[in-house]
Amino acid sequence: MTNQNRIVLVTGATGNVGSEIVKQLASSVSSNVQTDIRAAVHSQNNVDKLPQYAKNVEIVTMDYNKPETVAAALHNVSTLYLLTLPSLRMADTSLKVISEAKKHGVEYIVKQSVFGADAEPGILIGRLHRQEEKIIEESGIAYTFIRPSAFMQNLVNYFGYTIRTQNAIFLPAGEGKVSFVDARDVAAVAAKLLIRANGTRYDNRAIVGTGSEALSYGQCAEVISKQTGRKIAYIDITEEDARKGMKAMGTEDWLVEAILEEFHQTKLGNRSKTSNTVEEILGRKPNSFGSFVKDYVNSFN
Ligand SMILES: NC(=O)c1ccc[n+]([C@@H]2O[C@H](COP(=O)([O-])OP(=O)(O)OC[C@H]3O[C@@H](n4cnc5c(N)ncnc54)[C@H](OP(=O)(O)O)[C@@H]3O)[C@@H](O)[C@H]2O)c1
Repeated sequence: MTNQNRIVLVTGATGNVGSEIVKQLASSVSSNVQTDIRAAVHSQNNVDKLPQYAKNVEIVTMDYNKPETVAAALHNVSTLYLLTLPSLRMADTSLKVISEAKKHGVEYIVKQSVFGADAEPGILIGRLHRQEEKIIEESGIAYTFIRPSAFMQNLVNYFGYTIRTQNAIFLPAGEGKVSFVDARDVAAVAAKLLIRANGTRYDNRAIVGTGSEALSYGQCAEVISKQTGRKIAYIDITEEDARKGMKAMGTEDWLVEAILEEFHQTKLGNRSKTSNTVEEILGRKPNSFGSFVKDYVNSFN
């Protein structure tokens, strides 16, 4: 790595979106010698989640709870992809990271936010992200907020277990539709913004990242059934049953209520709005749910 190159720091680099950003930057940046990529990894034992071909990536360990690791990761960074995990204290985390970013002369932040973060009164997860957005707005650093709708990957990461073991998705979402987005498309959008590919600039704006259609969980189950060749059912459970299930899995009480709040909004049809921003930035249609399931079909078997 050379000192004069600009450094893009990707936080959450082993996660759904972060790992894809690293992968996509690693392949696009090889032809763009102006940019170095730094991937901030939380648990060292998750490093193998980073794609093998990310050899031109500098890996650093960083824990938001250890300020010295945040400062070291931000050294010489000009552009920051900021991902924080849902927590009642996520604004505190952001405040510390942004103040450190200012000290290090960071010029541009792409923050992963959430669909509906600006809704009023909105829901708790959205309000927590909005608090972080405001900290960035007030920092004076240029930014873009990506507000994605629910990831298609949730069907694997959160509901895949019952799909595999019981051929069913159990959720309190009624027939409400969701404008699911493929996390790989969110990463592609972020990657373009981070390296300003072809002059891509959405500075000081929030963009909404969705797929091009909204589907109910019943419709998702039909698509998965078709691709796996097994009948997958969608069972519309009560909030109380969903609450019991999440608590039995050890989910914190506040998060249980926040997730239920989100499903309630889904049920009311408030998570179904689509936007054409992904297509506008990528110059192609967002991935469909069908093509997502095809790519991940082994995860449902
Ligand atoms: N899921 C959805 O449908 C959805 C939709 C819209 C927005 N969002 C938002 O997207 C974010 C989640 O994105 P994601 O799914 O890509 O996340 P993810 O896959 O859960 O990844 C989270 C990343 O954060 C790292 N991390 C955990 N604790 C950390 C710490 N103390 N310090 C530094 N890094 C830490 C994890 O590393 P380790 O694994 O090594 O701990 C991991 O790389 C949340 O802000 C959520 O609100 C989610």
